[in-house]
Amino acid sequence: MTATAAEIGFRPDDPAFIADPYPVYAELRERAPVLYDEATDHYLISRYEDVSALLRDRRFGRTYLHVATHAEMGRPEPPAWHDPFWDLINAGILDMEPPDHTRVRRLVSKAFTPRYVEGLRPRVQAIMDGLVDRVAGAGEFDLLAELAEPLPVTVIADMLGIPEEDRHRLRPWSADICKMYELNPSLEMQRDAVRASIEFADYLRALLAERRRRPGEDLISQLAQVLDEGERLSESELVGTCVLLLNAGHEATVNATGIAWWTLFRNPDALRRLREDRSLLPTAVDELLRYDTPAPMFERWVLEGFELHGVEIPRGAELGLLFASANRDPAAFDRPDELDLSREPNPHLTFGAGIHFCLGAPLGRQELQVSFGTILERLPGLELAEEPRWKPGYVLRGLAELRVRA
Ligand code: HEM
Repeated sequence: MTATAAEIGFRPDDPAFIADPYPVYAELRERAPVLYDEATDHYLISRYEDVSALLRDRRFGRTYLHVATHAEMGRPEPPAWHDPFWDLINAGILDMEPPDHTRVRRLVSKAFTPRYVEGLRPRVQAIMDGLVDRVAGAGEFDLLAELAEPLPVTVIADMLGIPEEDRHRLRPWSADICKMYELNPSLEMQRDAVRASIEFADYLRALLAERRRRPGEDLISQLAQVLDEGERLSESELVGTCVLLLNAGHEATVNATGIAWWTLFRNPDALRRLREDRSLLPTAVDELLRYDTPAPMFERWVLEGFELHGVEIPRGAELGLLFASANRDPAAFDRPDELDLSREPNPHLTFGAGIHFCLGAPLGRQELQVSFGTILERLPGLELAEEPRWKPGYVLRGLAELRVRA
């Protein structure tokens, strides 16, 4: 009989697994590439070829509500008090499926094309320079709080036109909303997520009303204009998508920055090589995103029953697509457990694939390149001050802090 996921070591609430899940992924890929995990009620999919193919297959969805009710899918109705959370999430493009997804993604994608994002580079650089000015000569500091968090939050808040004085509210709202995405969230986490959804949606509705009265150059004003011109976007979709942009626009980037620096500190040869040759930055950033993947698992609902590697997966089941495992699959990458900062090609799945492929990938890559380039140049002696701690979450995996000395 096949071992259970927990026996193989898939224990998303175990700090040791969160810190280094890669030996477990190797076992899963080899022994049980499709494995039902009772603890999380997910079918775990660990091989690159499968994860990549399923992401592009319309028989699987981020939601099922476009084809069936909860009852028809054999799933419990979420409690009514969760409605503010689901109303907000279901109105953002990440949790839409075509044709709604196609319509709304097209409207927002103009602000995220590689060309548009390249035009933002001087502004991203200026923000990063200002942040490094504050820590240069400061001795010991937390790289996450001082550099990794404020850069993407400021960039996305600028794009959406969030007033300076309100920006400190964004990260706590986002962190609270994201608690619902963890596997088996506690009642307290669910309450935090619902409360933050209400506050964040109310805040954005008020800001939207203000931008309709007095439009600016920002993305909310542009979307408000679309709203006023016709039927192509509803107010809920606008609010849901702005919340998604504000959350997705920094959560993963913050975690990616911390994890990547922790990887570099543990691989001093690679760090030295990058310090000596910063032209490696574009491939280095992608390799760091592959090597230790910040968002290791994304879920999909099974809209039609199917079979994979001899395992029958019924309609209504939930898949756990293990992106981080796919990124270390020797069938897709040479020497996958080696950090090779000049790796090319590097078809990692860290930004996903298919219709939900990360809209912010060009922006995320640019932020990381600017952030790493600036730190390497202006803080050449940066070193680790103490071994970091991981946050308890698995789905949004990241360090709690990263104490360094400049
Ligand atoms: C290193 C940083 C980032 C990582 C690792 C990342 C990862 C991802 C992944 C894996 C998905 C697809 C999820 C799925 O298929 O279930 C996604 C979607 C998305 N991301 Fe990112 N992301 C990053 C940065 C950003 C940034 C900076 C933004 C925007 C400002 C952003 C906005 C979005 C949006 C809007 C979607 C939904 C796309 C859709 O459903 O069509 N992300 N991201």
